[in-house]
Amino acid sequence: MDSRKKIVIAGGSGFLGEAMAKYFLAKGYEVLIIARQNPQYSEKIQYAQWDGKTLSTWAKQLENATALINMAGKSVNCRYNEANKRQIYDSRLHTTRILGEAIGQCQNPPLVWLNSSSATIYRHALDRPMDEPKGEIGTGFSVDVCQQWEAEFNNASTPHTRKVILRTAIVLGKSGSVFPYLLHIVRLGWGGRQGNGKQMFSWIHLEDFNRAVHYLIDNEALSGVFNLSSPNPVSNQMLMQSLRQKGKFWLGLPAETWMVRLGAWLIGSEAELLLKSRWVLPTRLLESGFQFNYPNLDLALDELLT
Ligand SMILES: NC(=O)c1ccc[n+]([C@@H]2O[C@H](COP(=O)([O-])OP(=O)(O)OC[C@H]3O[C@@H](n4cnc5c(N)ncnc54)[C@H](OP(=O)(O)O)[C@@H]3O)[C@@H](O)[C@H]2O)c1
Repeated sequence: MDSRKKIVIAGGSGFLGEAMAKYFLAKGYEVLIIARQNPQYSEKIQYAQWDGKTLSTWAKQLENATALINMAGKSVNCRYNEANKRQIYDSRLHTTRILGEAIGQCQNPPLVWLNSSSATIYRHALDRPMDEPKGEIGTGFSVDVCQQWEAEFNNASTPHTRKVILRTAIVLGKSGSVFPYLLHIVRLGWGGRQGNGKQMFSWIHLEDFNRAVHYLIDNEALSGVFNLSSPNPVSNQMLMQSLRQKGKFWLGLPAETWMVRLGAWLIGSEAELLLKSRWVLPTRLLESGFQFNYPNLDLALDELLT
């Protein structure tokens, strides 16, 4: 049994990176984040600077790490014009490539490397859920980003470092981008379905996301692709209804598809983020024995709304 206790989080300055850094700090790990700027959210968290595309002095921080976790990637909550698309690709592909090269230079490389991907890699699914063994990969820009991201990761040769791909569903946390946004539109009275409301919403509570990452680090037999999503996805209609009921908001106007498209355009985003049906199950996590603290949306919303 290896006694090292150091977690390195590339892209550790964002929503998930910060939550994960604090989680592992509380578990007694030494935590170091790699980012373009020091977010300084805790004095106890160490920091190394990179530009996200060049191998330099930050690379030696990977020596003797228990785990390297890559959370870097420009937010997909933007308009998909050519410049943004290029940055969405580059911020994922370049970071993954140089992290693989950095591992290759280590005398004592990390025991495990977990690289972010997304549950959006699966097709728009209204007929059946997608899981690791039987899920079908979709088409289009966001899917292509995930496929190239995973290919870059799979191409890296790290013979002494176990590799795990995190196909993460939408992470619900009090300060994260999606939950506060949904709560905001519900508070404005627009808490009805979006589009026809039949599209599925796969989600995971932030605490379970961190716990699942920890579980994958600790379980040396686990490698390859894992869906990080709760076992109980809901339809968009059910999501909005639950939010309204739990938050005690009586008015819930629906937003028809054209309104979602117009609204997304007005705020510089993409309607796909709300209208794509992401129906994903965490089969491999469940089969390996992982237990969710928040398996149902009701439980998750009770905690998020406190
Ligand atoms: N949040 C979710 O629900 C969710 C779901 C599925 C997958 N994911 C994926 O998980 C990862 C983390 O998500 P998040 O919600 O924490 O995102 P976030 O808050 O936007 O943080 C993204 C991180 O990426 C870094 N980054 C952005 N552009 C970069 C670039 N060009 N080069 C290097 N680093 C760059 C940022 O660091 P700087 O300080 O250097 O800018 C930041 O630390 C992303 O790759 C995202 O696609 C998230």
